[in-house]
Amino acid sequence: MASKTKFQAIRGTRDLLPPETALWNRVEQTAHEVFTTYGFGEIRPPVIEPTELFARAVGGDTDIVSKEMYTFPDRLEDHPETAKTIQDFMKEQPPLVGLAIATSAALYPFISLRPEATASVCRAYIEHNMQQLPQPVKLYYMGPMFRRERPQKGRYRQFYQIGAEILGGPDAPAIDAELIEMLMTFFDKCGLQGTELSINSIGHAADNCRRGYVALLKAELEKVKDKLGADSQRRIETNPLRVLDSKLEYEQPIIATLPRIADHLCDECKTHYAAVKHELEQRGVIYRENWRLVRGLDYYMRTTFEITAKGLGSQNAVCGGGRYDGLVELLGGPPTKGIGFAIGEDRLILSLQESGKGAAPQGRDVYIAWMGERAYATAIRAAKDLRNAGFRVELPPTELKFGKALERASKLGSRFALILGDNEVADGQWTLKNLADGSQQKLTEQALLEYLLKP
Ligand code: HAM
Repeated sequence: MASKTKFQAIRGTRDLLPPETALWNRVEQTAHEVFTTYGFGEIRPPVIEPTELFARAVGGDTDIVSKEMYTFPDRLEDHPETAKTIQDFMKEQPPLVGLAIATSAALYPFISLRPEATASVCRAYIEHNMQQLPQPVKLYYMGPMFRRERPQKGRYRQFYQIGAEILGGPDAPAIDAELIEMLMTFFDKCGLQGTELSINSIGHAADNCRRGYVALLKAELEKVKDKLGADSQRRIETNPLRVLDSKLEYEQPIIATLPRIADHLCDECKTHYAAVKHELEQRGVIYRENWRLVRGLDYYMRTTFEITAKGLGSQNAVCGGGRYDGLVELLGGPPTKGIGFAIGEDRLILSLQESGKGAAPQGRDVYIAWMGERAYATAIRAAKDLRNAGFRVELPPTELKFGKALERASKLGSRFALILGDNEVADGQWTLKNLADGSQQKLTEQALLEYLLKP
């Protein structure tokens, strides 16, 4: 017997529906336009990648890789070079998906749904020898990402990012500043309100820079360990910098007394940070410094930034980014500079909707109310011509009494009803009814088009 199960979208995923999708399209179109004016080209990397790519790029100890990735054993023939047994794989990194596959000695390549796209863009840069192109290479992308987080407002398991990356080129703070300028221009063009840009520098991995600072931070954290929550206590061991991310009320006064990274940067990183700030000021970009902005992915160094927007509640980061100079090399490529950002498109849309910038319901320009067989033939042709001229046209597939047809036209939010009966067709005089004020006029086919095209 056929099951009566009603299917529903999986928890943390959802359907994007009209009219909201019109707003998504507008936002994406704005990104295409703004990013193109800054010399960026679009890249569309795949949604699945070898698990190892994210483990190496984002970091095995990060929440994203250790807890949130959707990971699967693939069939062997596809990626023999990265194949391993399920047991070996589980030893390295317990996959979140409940792998109910009996233990066996079979080898599997493991693949993951991408939790972010910076790793993919760097992989593509190496794979396609982009270091041979004029540098830097500027790429942007948009599309779904997957993280198995606890769903809430502004947080989904399938969510969408619009991101941009600059790879290669010189060590110039102007690159950081121009990227941020582009981002703020984009938000401005979208009409996003209440944006706040926070920036920081987390230096580079050297004893006289971040490594020295982290050791100092760890020592200070050990002293106050008892006063911290379980998460922070664990992070003292795994990633002390992330303690600074804590939102727990009672940890705030403790964190406020911790040493600050800006006081422990090496001379080069200090100079770089000062120059980024100067370059931002030259461009009129307003920023706030936040010494606690450390970001949750391992690949960052020097500049980090985040943008918050209004109307989002606790998930108010609408964009995050930063510099990642070592990443391409870490993935097997040549030493290459890198910086980029990713916008949470879902959150951007939410914030626009909250400030009343949502999409209007999608109406129709013309609803064709036809009756009779001759009228139907004319209606088909009229619909085609009007659509060719760019009008949104509804042609009912079955004959309706004029009264009923006008009712439907109003329900669909049509501006006009074109009334076509056999009389109208015989006279060559079509009736156009303005549904806003109820007025009616007779027009020839040509005059009708001209009338509708008038601004
Ligand atoms: P991220 O901070 O992990 O950075 O994500 C960027 C943005 O994606 C966040 O600020 C947020 O708006 C959105 N986002 C993240 N997770 C979710 C979720 N579960 N639901 C809804 N929105 C979410 C990155 O992904 C880096 N790849 C950014 C980057 C590019 N850095 C350099 N280049």
